[in-house]
Amino acid sequence: EKGGWSSFMAKEISEQPEAVSNTLLGRIHNDHVVLGELEAIDELLTEIDRIVILGCGTAAYSAMLGKYAIEKWARIPVEVELSHEFRYRDPVVNASTLVISISQSGETMDTLVAVQEAKAKGARTLSICNTQGATIPRESDAVIYTHAGPEVAVASTKAFIAQITALYLFGLHLARVRATLDDETIATSIVELQAIPDKIRWVLEQHGEITELANWMSDSRAVLFLGRHVGFPVALEGALKLKELAYIHAEGFAAGELKHGPIALIEPGQPVFVVVPSPRHPNSLHAKVVSNIQEIKARGAKVLAIAEEGDVAVLPYASDVFRIPLAGPLFEPLLAVIPLQIFAMELATAKGLDVDQPRNLAKSVTVE
Ligand code: BG6
Repeated sequence: EKGGWSSFMAKEISEQPEAVSNTLLGRIHNDHVVLGELEAIDELLTEIDRIVILGCGTAAYSAMLGKYAIEKWARIPVEVELSHEFRYRDPVVNASTLVISISQSGETMDTLVAVQEAKAKGARTLSICNTQGATIPRESDAVIYTHAGPEVAVASTKAFIAQITALYLFGLHLARVRATLDDETIATSIVELQAIPDKIRWVLEQHGEITELANWMSDSRAVLFLGRHVGFPVALEGALKLKELAYIHAEGFAAGELKHGPIALIEPGQPVFVVVPSPRHPNSLHAKVVSNIQEIKARGAKVLAIAEEGDVAVLPYASDVFRIPLAGPLFEPLLAVIPLQIFAMELATAKGLDVDQPRNLAKSVTVE
Protein backbone atom coordinates (compact mmCIF):
# COMPACT_ATOMS: atom_id res chain seq x y z
CA GLU A 1 0.00 0.00 0.00
CA LYS A 2 3.00 2.28 0.39
CA GLY A 3 3.22 2.17 -3.38
CA GLY A 4 7.01 2.19 -3.62
CA TRP A 5 7.52 4.76 -0.86
CA SER A 6 9.83 3.95 2.07
CA SER A 7 7.09 4.85 4.56
CA PHE A 8 3.49 6.01 4.74
CA MET A 9 4.86 9.30 5.99
CA ALA A 10 6.96 9.79 2.84
CA LYS A 11 3.93 8.87 0.72
CA GLU A 12 1.59 11.18 2.62
CA ILE A 13 4.00 14.13 2.47
CA SER A 14 4.17 13.65 -1.30
CA GLU A 15 0.36 13.50 -1.55
CA GLN A 16 -0.09 17.02 -0.19
CA PRO A 17 -0.73 18.72 -3.54
CA GLU A 18 -3.66 16.33 -4.06
CA ALA A 19 -4.85 16.81 -0.47
CA VAL A 20 -5.33 20.49 -1.25
CA SER A 21 -6.91 20.00 -4.70
CA ASN A 22 -9.28 17.33 -3.41
CA THR A 23 -10.36 19.52 -0.51
CA LEU A 24 -11.06 22.35 -2.98
CA LEU A 25 -12.80 20.08 -5.46
CA GLY A 26 -16.42 21.01 -6.16
CA ARG A 27 -16.33 23.82 -3.61
CA ILE A 28 -15.53 26.71 -5.95
CA HIS A 29 -18.04 28.03 -8.46
CA ASN A 30 -17.76 31.30 -10.39
CA ASP A 31 -15.19 32.85 -8.08
CA HIS A 32 -17.17 31.94 -4.99
CA VAL A 33 -16.77 29.32 -2.32
CA VAL A 34 -19.79 27.05 -2.20
CA LEU A 35 -20.12 24.90 0.89
CA GLY A 36 -23.46 23.17 0.49
CA GLU A 37 -22.76 21.16 3.65
CA LEU A 38 -23.23 24.35 5.69
CA GLU A 39 -26.85 24.78 4.68
CA ALA A 40 -28.05 23.77 8.13
CA ILE A 41 -26.04 26.54 9.81
CA ASP A 42 -25.86 29.19 7.05
CA GLU A 43 -28.42 31.46 8.67
CA LEU A 44 -26.62 31.17 11.95
CA LEU A 45 -23.39 32.34 10.34
CA THR A 46 -24.81 35.86 10.06
CA GLU A 47 -25.89 35.84 13.70
CA ILE A 48 -22.86 34.54 15.58
CA ASP A 49 -20.63 37.03 17.37
CA ARG A 50 -17.70 34.78 18.13
CA ILE A 51 -15.95 31.60 17.00
CA VAL A 52 -13.98 29.14 19.11
CA ILE A 53 -11.79 26.58 17.33
CA LEU A 54 -10.79 23.41 19.17
CA GLY A 55 -8.29 20.67 18.42
CA CYS A 56 -5.32 18.72 19.78
CA GLY A 57 -1.79 18.40 18.47
CA THR A 58 -1.39 19.29 14.82
CA ALA A 59 -5.11 20.09 14.56
CA ALA A 60 -4.64 22.88 17.13
CA TYR A 61 -2.00 24.45 14.86
CA SER A 62 -4.26 24.43 11.82
CA ALA A 63 -6.85 26.00 14.15
CA MET A 64 -4.42 28.87 14.84
CA LEU A 65 -4.03 29.47 11.12
CA GLY A 66 -7.82 29.37 10.79
CA LYS A 67 -8.01 32.13 13.38
CA TYR A 68 -5.65 34.40 11.44
CA ALA A 69 -7.58 33.89 8.20
CA ILE A 70 -11.13 34.04 9.58
CA GLU A 71 -10.47 37.17 11.64
CA LYS A 72 -8.77 38.87 8.72
CA TRP A 73 -11.46 38.02 6.21
CA ALA A 74 -14.69 37.79 8.21
CA ARG A 75 -13.86 40.33 10.97
CA ILE A 76 -15.25 38.18 13.76
CA PRO A 77 -13.35 37.33 16.96
CA VAL A 78 -11.87 33.84 16.91
CA GLU A 79 -10.30 32.03 19.82
CA VAL A 80 -8.30 28.86 19.60
CA GLU A 81 -8.13 26.44 22.46
CA LEU A 82 -6.81 22.96 23.08
CA SER A 83 -9.88 20.73 23.43
CA HIS A 84 -8.79 19.29 26.79
CA GLU A 85 -8.25 22.73 28.30
CA PHE A 86 -11.57 24.06 27.01
CA ARG A 87 -13.51 21.18 28.47
CA TYR A 88 -12.51 21.59 32.09
CA ARG A 89 -12.61 25.32 32.74
CA ASP A 90 -16.32 26.09 32.40
CA PRO A 91 -15.81 28.05 29.16
CA VAL A 92 -18.08 30.94 28.17
CA VAL A 93 -19.97 29.90 25.06
CA ASN A 94 -23.62 30.36 24.16
CA ALA A 95 -26.06 30.32 21.27
CA SER A 96 -24.13 33.17 19.58
CA THR A 97 -20.91 31.16 19.51
CA LEU A 98 -19.87 28.84 16.72
CA VAL A 99 -17.55 26.13 17.98
CA ILE A 100 -15.43 24.58 15.24
CA SER A 101 -13.66 21.33 16.06
CA ILE A 102 -10.77 20.05 14.01
CA SER A 103 -9.88 16.38 13.99
CA GLN A 104 -8.32 14.19 11.32
CA SER A 105 -9.76 11.02 12.84
CA GLY A 106 -12.97 12.51 14.17
CA GLU A 107 -12.54 10.20 17.16
CA THR A 108 -10.17 12.08 19.49
CA MET A 109 -11.89 11.79 22.85
CA ASP A 110 -10.60 15.13 24.20
CA THR A 111 -12.15 16.92 21.23
CA LEU A 112 -15.37 14.92 21.25
CA VAL A 113 -15.99 15.70 24.92
CA ALA A 114 -15.22 19.39 24.29
CA VAL A 115 -17.78 19.46 21.46
CA GLN A 116 -20.38 17.85 23.71
CA GLU A 117 -19.63 20.44 26.39
CA ALA A 118 -20.05 23.27 23.85
CA LYS A 119 -23.39 21.81 22.71
CA ALA A 120 -24.59 21.48 26.27
CA LYS A 121 -23.90 25.19 26.73
CA GLY A 122 -26.00 26.02 23.66
CA ALA A 123 -23.26 26.64 21.08
CA ARG A 124 -23.65 25.53 17.47
CA THR A 125 -20.96 23.19 16.26
CA LEU A 126 -19.08 22.68 13.02
CA SER A 127 -16.62 19.85 12.54
CA ILE A 128 -13.68 19.79 10.14
CA CYS A 129 -12.80 16.14 9.76
CA ASN A 130 -10.98 13.78 7.41
CA THR A 131 -12.87 10.60 8.26
CA GLN A 132 -16.35 10.12 6.80
CA GLY A 133 -19.00 9.32 9.37
CA ALA A 134 -16.70 9.58 12.40
CA THR A 135 -18.12 10.36 15.84
CA ILE A 136 -17.24 14.07 16.07
CA PRO A 137 -18.90 15.02 12.74
CA ARG A 138 -21.94 12.93 13.70
CA GLU A 139 -22.23 14.90 16.94
CA SER A 140 -21.88 18.27 15.17
CA ASP A 141 -24.50 20.49 13.51
CA ALA A 142 -22.49 20.60 10.29
CA VAL A 143 -19.27 19.16 8.88
CA ILE A 144 -16.76 20.16 6.26
CA TYR A 145 -14.88 17.03 5.26
CA THR A 146 -11.28 17.37 4.25
CA HIS A 147 -10.50 15.05 1.37
CA ALA A 148 -6.87 14.28 2.14
CA GLY A 149 -7.45 10.53 1.78
CA PRO A 150 -6.63 8.04 4.53
CA GLU A 151 -3.69 9.12 6.69
CA VAL A 152 -1.83 6.11 8.07
CA ALA A 153 1.36 7.56 9.57
CA VAL A 154 0.73 8.53 13.19
CA ALA A 155 2.12 12.05 12.83
CA SER A 156 -0.15 14.19 10.69
CA THR A 157 1.05 15.82 7.46
CA LYS A 158 -1.43 15.86 4.58
CA ALA A 159 -4.43 16.07 6.92
CA PHE A 160 -2.91 19.27 8.38
CA ILE A 161 -2.58 20.84 4.93
CA ALA A 162 -6.17 19.84 4.11
CA GLN A 163 -7.45 21.26 7.43
CA ILE A 164 -5.89 24.64 6.63
CA THR A 165 -7.46 24.51 3.16
CA ALA A 166 -10.90 23.74 4.63
CA LEU A 167 -10.58 26.52 7.23
CA TYR A 168 -9.62 29.01 4.54
CA LEU A 169 -12.59 27.94 2.40
CA PHE A 170 -14.79 28.43 5.43
CA GLY A 171 -13.24 31.85 6.12
CA LEU A 172 -13.95 33.01 2.57
CA HIS A 173 -17.48 31.62 2.72
CA LEU A 174 -18.08 33.42 6.01
CA ALA A 175 -16.68 36.65 4.57
CA ARG A 176 -19.21 36.48 1.75
CA VAL A 177 -22.14 35.59 4.00
CA ARG A 178 -21.25 38.42 6.38
CA ALA A 179 -20.33 40.79 3.54
CA THR A 180 -16.92 41.65 4.96
CA LEU A 181 -14.91 41.15 1.76
CA ASP A 182 -15.54 42.39 -1.76
CA ASP A 183 -15.90 39.88 -4.57
CA GLU A 184 -12.52 40.74 -6.02
CA THR A 185 -10.64 39.99 -2.81
CA ILE A 186 -12.50 36.70 -2.46
CA ALA A 187 -11.67 35.82 -6.07
CA THR A 188 -7.98 36.66 -5.55
CA SER A 189 -7.83 34.49 -2.44
CA ILE A 190 -9.46 31.61 -4.30
CA VAL A 191 -6.83 31.93 -7.03
CA GLU A 192 -4.16 31.80 -4.29
CA LEU A 193 -5.65 28.58 -2.94
CA GLN A 194 -5.90 27.02 -6.37
CA ALA A 195 -2.23 27.76 -7.01
CA ILE A 196 -1.08 26.00 -3.84
CA PRO A 197 -0.88 22.41 -5.18
CA ASP A 198 1.68 23.33 -7.87
CA LYS A 199 3.64 25.44 -5.41
CA ILE A 200 3.77 22.50 -2.98
CA ARG A 201 5.14 20.35 -5.83
CA TRP A 202 7.86 22.93 -6.32
CA VAL A 203 8.77 22.81 -2.60
CA LEU A 204 8.75 18.99 -2.57
CA GLU A 205 11.51 19.04 -5.19
CA GLN A 206 13.93 20.25 -2.53
CA HIS A 207 13.64 16.93 -0.72
CA GLY A 208 17.27 16.01 -1.49
CA GLU A 209 18.79 19.14 0.05
CA ILE A 210 16.65 18.80 3.16
CA THR A 211 17.69 15.15 3.52
CA GLU A 212 21.33 16.19 3.37
CA LEU A 213 20.83 18.68 6.19
CA ALA A 214 18.87 16.13 8.24
CA ASN A 215 21.61 13.51 7.86
CA TRP A 216 24.18 16.03 8.88
CA MET A 217 22.14 17.08 11.94
CA SER A 218 21.14 13.60 13.12
CA ASP A 219 22.91 13.93 16.49
CA SER A 220 21.28 17.27 17.36
CA ARG A 221 20.10 17.48 20.96
CA ALA A 222 17.76 20.45 20.63
CA VAL A 223 16.35 22.40 17.73
CA LEU A 224 14.44 25.68 17.94
CA PHE A 225 11.86 27.05 15.51
CA LEU A 226 10.91 30.70 15.15
CA GLY A 227 8.06 32.25 13.23
CA ARG A 228 5.85 35.28 13.35
CA HIS A 229 2.19 35.86 12.46
CA VAL A 230 1.20 32.80 10.38
CA GLY A 231 4.81 31.62 10.61
CA PHE A 232 4.30 31.03 14.34
CA PRO A 233 1.96 28.02 14.02
CA VAL A 234 4.34 26.72 11.35
CA ALA A 235 7.20 26.94 13.87
CA LEU A 236 5.08 25.10 16.45
CA GLU A 237 4.21 22.39 13.93
CA GLY A 238 7.85 22.04 12.82
CA ALA A 239 8.86 21.51 16.45
CA LEU A 240 6.03 19.05 17.08
CA LYS A 241 7.02 16.97 14.03
CA LEU A 242 10.62 16.79 15.24
CA LYS A 243 9.57 15.70 18.74
CA GLU A 244 7.12 13.12 17.42
CA LEU A 245 9.33 11.57 14.75
CA ALA A 246 12.93 12.10 15.85
CA TYR A 247 12.55 12.32 19.67
CA ILE A 248 14.56 15.52 19.70
CA HIS A 249 13.83 18.31 22.10
CA ALA A 250 12.26 20.96 19.92
CA GLU A 251 10.43 24.18 20.70
CA GLY A 252 8.57 26.61 18.50
CA PHE A 253 8.50 30.27 19.47
CA ALA A 254 6.82 33.43 18.25
CA ALA A 255 9.79 35.39 16.89
CA GLY A 256 8.64 38.55 18.69
CA GLU A 257 8.91 36.69 21.96
CA LEU A 258 12.61 35.97 21.45
CA LYS A 259 13.91 38.86 23.53
CA HIS A 260 11.41 38.07 26.29
CA GLY A 261 13.05 34.77 27.11
CA PRO A 262 13.99 32.25 24.45
CA ILE A 263 17.10 34.17 23.33
CA ALA A 264 18.71 32.95 26.56
CA LEU A 265 18.76 29.48 24.97
CA ILE A 266 20.97 30.58 22.09
CA GLU A 267 24.54 29.39 22.39
CA PRO A 268 27.15 28.76 19.74
CA GLY A 269 26.03 26.04 17.32
CA GLN A 270 22.36 25.98 18.40
CA PRO A 271 20.29 25.12 15.29
CA VAL A 272 17.32 27.44 14.77
CA PHE A 273 14.84 27.17 11.92
CA VAL A 274 13.34 30.53 11.06
CA VAL A 275 10.18 30.90 8.99
CA VAL A 276 10.74 34.16 7.11
CA PRO A 277 7.74 36.06 5.71
CA SER A 278 7.92 37.47 2.20
CA PRO A 279 9.53 40.94 1.92
CA ARG A 280 6.98 41.75 -0.79
CA HIS A 281 3.82 41.75 1.29
CA PRO A 282 2.35 45.06 2.39
CA ASN A 283 3.17 45.64 6.08
CA SER A 284 5.50 42.68 5.89
CA LEU A 285 7.14 41.53 9.08
CA HIS A 286 10.14 40.53 6.99
CA ALA A 287 12.47 43.22 8.38
CA LYS A 288 11.57 42.30 11.95
CA VAL A 289 12.23 38.60 11.39
CA VAL A 290 15.53 39.34 9.64
CA SER A 291 16.51 41.42 12.66
CA ASN A 292 15.68 38.41 14.90
CA ILE A 293 17.93 36.34 12.66
CA GLN A 294 20.74 38.86 13.14
CA GLU A 295 20.27 38.73 16.92
CA ILE A 296 20.54 34.96 17.13
CA LYS A 297 23.31 34.77 14.57
CA ALA A 298 25.33 37.27 16.65
CA ARG A 299 25.06 34.77 19.54
CA GLY A 300 26.33 31.91 17.43
CA ALA A 301 23.09 30.23 16.31
CA LYS A 302 23.14 28.04 13.22
CA VAL A 303 20.33 29.66 11.23
CA LEU A 304 18.24 27.51 8.89
CA ALA A 305 15.88 29.75 6.97
CA ILE A 306 12.65 28.98 5.15
CA ALA A 307 12.35 31.98 2.87
CA GLU A 308 10.75 33.12 -0.32
CA GLU A 309 12.51 32.47 -3.57
CA GLY A 310 14.68 35.49 -4.32
CA ASP A 311 14.83 36.81 -0.75
CA VAL A 312 18.54 37.64 -0.48
CA ALA A 313 18.33 39.41 2.89
CA VAL A 314 18.71 36.08 4.73
CA LEU A 315 21.79 34.96 2.82
CA PRO A 316 24.50 36.61 4.94
CA TYR A 317 23.20 34.92 8.10
CA ALA A 318 21.73 31.53 7.18
CA SER A 319 23.78 28.33 6.89
CA ASP A 320 20.99 26.86 4.75
CA VAL A 321 18.01 28.43 3.03
CA PHE A 322 15.01 26.40 1.86
CA ARG A 323 12.95 28.23 -0.70
CA ILE A 324 9.21 28.61 -1.06
CA PRO A 325 7.48 30.29 -4.01
CA LEU A 326 5.75 33.63 -3.55
CA ALA A 327 2.28 33.29 -2.03
CA GLY A 328 -0.13 35.70 -0.36
CA PRO A 329 0.60 36.42 3.34
CA LEU A 330 -1.93 33.93 4.73
CA PHE A 331 -1.00 31.20 2.28
CA GLU A 332 2.72 30.83 3.04
CA PRO A 333 2.17 28.26 5.84
CA LEU A 334 0.86 25.73 3.30
CA LEU A 335 4.32 25.87 1.73
CA ALA A 336 6.65 26.71 4.62
CA VAL A 337 5.65 23.69 6.69
CA ILE A 338 6.69 21.20 3.98
CA PRO A 339 10.49 21.47 4.44
CA LEU A 340 9.98 21.08 8.20
CA GLN A 341 7.92 17.89 7.74
CA ILE A 342 10.58 16.46 5.44
CA PHE A 343 13.36 17.48 7.81
CA ALA A 344 11.74 15.69 10.77
CA MET A 345 11.06 12.57 8.71
CA GLU A 346 14.57 12.41 7.25
CA LEU A 347 16.26 13.07 10.57
CA ALA A 348 14.23 10.28 12.17
CA THR A 349 15.16 8.01 9.27
CA ALA A 350 18.83 8.89 9.69
CA LYS A 351 18.49 7.82 13.35
CA GLY A 352 16.99 4.50 12.23
CA LEU A 353 13.56 5.25 13.74
CA ASP A 354 10.15 4.08 12.58
CA VAL A 355 8.63 7.27 11.15
CA ASP A 356 5.16 5.78 10.72
CA GLN A 357 4.80 4.46 14.27
CA PRO A 358 6.75 6.66 16.69
CA ARG A 359 7.13 5.30 20.21
CA ASN A 360 4.40 6.05 22.77
CA LEU A 361 2.04 7.67 20.24
CA ALA A 362 -1.28 6.57 18.78
CA LYS A 363 -2.90 7.82 15.59
CA SER A 364 -6.09 8.53 17.34
CA VAL A 365 -6.40 8.85 21.08
CA THR A 366 -9.84 7.61 22.02
CA VAL A 367 -9.41 7.94 25.77
CA GLU A 368 -9.27 11.15 27.80
C1 BG6 B 1 -2.50 12.72 18.30
C2 BG6 B 1 -1.83 12.33 17.01
O1 BG6 B 1 -2.65 11.66 19.14
O2 BG6 B 1 -3.73 13.32 18.00
C3 BG6 B 1 -1.52 13.65 16.29
O3 BG6 B 1 -0.63 11.64 17.28
C4 BG6 B 1 -2.81 14.39 16.00
O4 BG6 B 1 -0.85 13.41 15.05
C5 BG6 B 1 -3.66 14.53 17.28
O5 BG6 B 1 -2.51 15.66 15.50
C6 BG6 B 1 -5.08 14.94 16.94
O6 BG6 B 1 -5.70 13.90 16.20
P1 BG6 B 1 -7.01 14.13 15.38
O7 BG6 B 1 -7.38 12.81 14.77
O8 BG6 B 1 -8.05 14.62 16.35
O9 BG6 B 1 -6.70 15.16 14.35
